[in-house]
Amino acid sequence: MESTRNKLIHLLSVSNDIFISGQEISDKLNISRSAIWKHMKELEKDGYIIEAIRNKGYRIVDAPKKVSQNTIQWGLNTEWLGKTIYHKETTTSTQHIAHQLAQVNSAHGTVVIADEQTAGKGRLSRQWHSAKQQGIWLSMIIRPNILPHLAPQLTLLTATVLADVLKHELKLDPKIKWPNDIIMDDKKIAGILTEMQAEQDQIQYIVIGMGINVNQQQIDLPADIQDKATSISIVSEKKWDITNLIQLILVQFEETYAAYMRKGFSVIKEKWERYGYRIGEITRIKTHKEVNEIKIIGIAEDGALLAESLDGKVSKVYSGEIDW
Ligand code: BTN
Repeated sequence: MESTRNKLIHLLSVSNDIFISGQEISDKLNISRSAIWKHMKELEKDGYIIEAIRNKGYRIVDAPKKVSQNTIQWGLNTEWLGKTIYHKETTTSTQHIAHQLAQVNSAHGTVVIADEQTAGKGRLSRQWHSAKQQGIWLSMIIRPNILPHLAPQLTLLTATVLADVLKHELKLDPKIKWPNDIIMDDKKIAGILTEMQAEQDQIQYIVIGMGINVNQQQIDLPADIQDKATSISIVSEKKWDITNLIQLILVQFEETYAAYMRKGFSVIKEKWERYGYRIGEITRIKTHKEVNEIKIIGIAEDGALLAESLDGKVSKVYSGEIDW
């Protein structure tokens, strides 16, 4: 059930800078005038500037830049994604919290976001640096009606979502390095971690985590990754509004997910290959067993990497890492 606060935020955001009367809010949300007043005070605590004029009503003059449940939901135009948001100033890992929430039946589309993670995790048990208010550290609970072996497709789907936002909204030129890295200027700008809880033929839930370096400068990046990592701010030479970026990503994810559910993976595959990093080039791929020289052909219908060995044989790779 959508909370009264969410409904209030939605109501005020659609009426934009026009006053909306206390009576209208009270009728639409079925709450008392004093309850409205309390909600407004809570919004003010979050940094909203609210104008309240007798006989006219309320309007929001300014919304804060800081990330919070309210600021993300303010004007967020999604149907199911981010209807419930948990925002933490600091936490170990948003993945960890999302798993806990999913296990107590949190809804499809629940989002967990943190300003800072103290134990952010990446693929292959790597550490993920998640410095305070410098990036997007976000996990989503998804309950898709697909077979468990297709779950890796959602990682690729998420990668196209991030690439689309960077390209179409921020006018940048991202690439996707299989399976889950977003690359700009040959450096990693974002990563995706997909974790699933499933039975033999049914997914209970998937937690899709994304880590996006947004406002770091070169000096803010840890020394050990300085030559391999970058941020949106470094490549664009601008600071970005993190709340707004989160909203763009959630909207784009919902839209892409709907297309995937309607038309299948082919729509994602096509897009992914357009963004694919080093497609057609010879590179090396590291699997748990060996390192091989291969040419990247593209991705298969099930999301595996299609790799051509030097003797011309094409095979599917399900897990591994492409060398730089
Ligand atoms: C990778 O490239 O290895 C994946 C990185 C995923 C990082 C994100 S940040 C939000 C979520 N919480 C985590 O602990 N990890 C993911």
